[in-house]
Amino acid sequence: MENSINPPLDTPFKQDVYNGLTAFPKHLSSKYFYDANGDKIFQAIMNLPEYYLTNSEFSIVQENKEKICVLFAENTPSFNLIELGAGDGKKTKILLAHLNNIKANFNYLPIDLSENALKQLESSLAEEFPNIHVAPKCGSYIEALETVAFNKNNKNIILFLGSNIGNMLFPQAIRFLKRINSLMHKNDILFLGCDLKKNPQLILDAYNDKSGITASFNMNILQRINTELQGNFNIENFKHWEVYDPETGTAKSYLVSLKPQQVTIAAINLQVHFKAWETIHTEISQKYDHEMIQRLLEEAGLKIVSKFGDKQGYFENYVLIKK
Ligand code: AVI
Repeated sequence: MENSINPPLDTPFKQDVYNGLTAFPKHLSSKYFYDANGDKIFQAIMNLPEYYLTNSEFSIVQENKEKICVLFAENTPSFNLIELGAGDGKKTKILLAHLNNIKANFNYLPIDLSENALKQLESSLAEEFPNIHVAPKCGSYIEALETVAFNKNNKNIILFLGSNIGNMLFPQAIRFLKRINSLMHKNDILFLGCDLKKNPQLILDAYNDKSGITASFNMNILQRINTELQGNFNIENFKHWEVYDPETGTAKSYLVSLKPQQVTIAAINLQVHFKAWETIHTEISQKYDHEMIQRLLEEAGLKIVSKFGDKQGYFENYVLIKK
């Protein structure tokens, strides 16, 4: 039906914005946070004192790099290190440096939705690690992963760090890991970073920082609609709102309309009406406990070879293989 409206919904962004803003309740996908501006804001988020995730995972990788790299490089003369959602590669660079030190023979294949993030990563890697062969791939995780040479003769290590899995609902996370599992061979490894349930206040603060940077990240999706789809959102008429449910472990981000308002999105010929206090759901950041992780991996057919946690018990990284 959407494709019959004029002008056509000829890109995924147009389709998703149209479908999300004509649905009840309204929603938009957090994958659209990441344009050049969104990448910059996300960098700032990772440096926020409240956003504990980056420091927790950084310390796990830093303190366990030897053990992790041994698992990556064992039983193979060479391997592909494939990273889903590579971003700025801050944590991965610890592993790259150590793999270099132990003279491991590998290619690094970062995959990201953001062309801009990949370009920046590629140039910083060329400077810091000129001897590492880097083959970036822009696109959605599974599509890009399918096109990456999954070579039976070469071990594949898939990195999925930073609690990126948390941006999926539980059933979607299962489907996603199942799909990855189906692409893996016997000797391949998935290295997964999961954020854990903890004091609910810490989680709320991580997504509702005092300086308002996370709010501007959330608002960036409206800015993108304004610039790319000729929208006329006035972002001052919306409020960033975060909720965390300690029972389910789900943190959710919303944009709340502060008054009744009408917004026009010219490129998709859409008028959107907002009642006062109406919401747009934009992101989910799932926090796990051990039972949930167990269930997730069980359903996805993955087996834990090793796991690493930080001292505070905030975050965990898993070395996984096919069952
Ligand atoms: C990328 N992802 C795991 C982040 C998260 O924690 O859900 C994105 C983010 N959203 C707000 N702050 C950070």
